[in-house]
Amino acid sequence: MSDILSLKKTAAAVLVSGNGTNLQALIDNQQKNSDCPYKINVVISDNPGAFALTRAKKAGIKAYVLEKGNLKGQSLRDYRTRQILEILRKEKTDIVVLAGFLTILSESLINEFPERIINIHPALLPDFGGPGMYGHHVHEAVLASGKKESGCTVHIVDKGCDTGRVILQRKVPVMAGDTPDSLADRIHKEEYIAIVQGTELLAKGFNKV
Ligand code: GRF
Repeated sequence: MSDILSLKKTAAAVLVSGNGTNLQALIDNQQKNSDCPYKINVVISDNPGAFALTRAKKAGIKAYVLEKGNLKGQSLRDYRTRQILEILRKEKTDIVVLAGFLTILSESLINEFPERIINIHPALLPDFGGPGMYGHHVHEAVLASGKKESGCTVHIVDKGCDTGRVILQRKVPVMAGDTPDSLADRIHKEEYIAIVQGTELLAKGFNKV
């Protein structure tokens, strides 16, 4: 038996809010690649209408939708973080992948999973990151800047917004005549490679015999 086969796969939770094409790239990789060092043990969505939930169901992966519930004086961010932590503990999750997850997390989650949470961002951080920089806002800002290059970044999640240590980046050219949509499409293709590479790198550090 090769070493990799005798290792227990790292349990990865994937947090999503929307279409879930990055989640799909992670699912496809674990289905096709027997050496894949992670296994998605749970998908968590803050949006009940996220198509990512359909993708999880089709792949037979357990999925949770965060409840609206009664905040009882907490911020929505703290309330959701608490729900996420409960799920991650219950499901015995090792690492967390934010794949298009729009809720900003509270510190308690980062403290419990230090250096164990990654995020994918559709630009070359540290440029075009931070509060409000998500989805088409990012690509509009890149086009307005006149930059000739954009791309995607996989980074460790720390207490800031898009500020954690960069694990890897993939670049694409910005073309004359690009729209936010055409640029987003070009970047998305690179994201599917980056999210798999980033998750595998993080997961390998947590594989146990
Ligand atoms: C991606 O562009 C990712 O970089 C960003 O959110 C988007 C999610 O897309 N954080 P999808 O839901 O994986 O299709």
